[in-house]
Amino acid sequence: MSATRDTAQAADLLTWYDRHARELPWRVSPAARAAGVRPDPYRVWMSEIMLQQTTVAAVKSYFEAFTTRWPTVSDLAAAEDADVMAAWAGLGYYARARNLLKCARAVADEHGGVFPQTLEGLRALPGVGPYTAAAVAAIAFDLPETVVDGNVERVMARLHDEHMPLPQSKPVLTGYAAALTSQGRPGDYAQAVMDLGATICTPRNPACGLCPWRTACAAWDRGTQAELPKKAPK
Ligand code: ADE
Repeated sequence: MSATRDTAQAADLLTWYDRHARELPWRVSPAARAAGVRPDPYRVWMSEIMLQQTTVAAVKSYFEAFTTRWPTVSDLAAAEDADVMAAWAGLGYYARARNLLKCARAVADEHGGVFPQTLEGLRALPGVGPYTAAAVAAIAFDLPETVVDGNVERVMARLHDEHMPLPQSKPVLTGYAAALTSQGRPGDYAQAVMDLGATICTPRNPACGLCPWRTACAAWDRGTQAELPKKAPK
């Protein structure tokens, strides 16, 4: 299933993802994706906004409730502010809910209810920062954008035994991530690195024995996993 242009390392991760991808309500499984099913940009966008400061476990039921009540971005755009704020109650960081509505209305009013399909177009939407734009571009549109969240930073710091502390190391870690990004299956790849960070390359007690990148991992080689990523004192 992997494209020949991908590095062996990207291919190894995609093979792992094909077997171990988490089933998430906003996700199209790798098998369905390979069969031609395309993710709904609305669902991808909403999940990424909800996941910004909130765990997957906490987001699931809110995601189901929102997408059941407002199945399309145009439905959400037409919602009452108070209804959306009430439905968001408990998720926290309420600026996200206000931005969610602003963005839905921009997509409905300025883009005919269709999400822009470029990084720049997505980036211009209210509340869509560089991370969310890259995630939606990669996952919804299979554009080879580099998606870097905290999970990906940890994976890259360990893979390269990078001891420069965060946040100074961010551009370096992003560079490592960009060099590995799959050209053939960028959407699956972006989700695979996040899953690797969430389920194997965890902050504490990483399951290195199960990691598809173990033999490539400099931290594994040197036994430095537990120290990485380093963080500058606050
Ligand atoms: N965390 C943030 N976005 C995610 C995604 N698309 N899949 C898994 N975990 C995530």
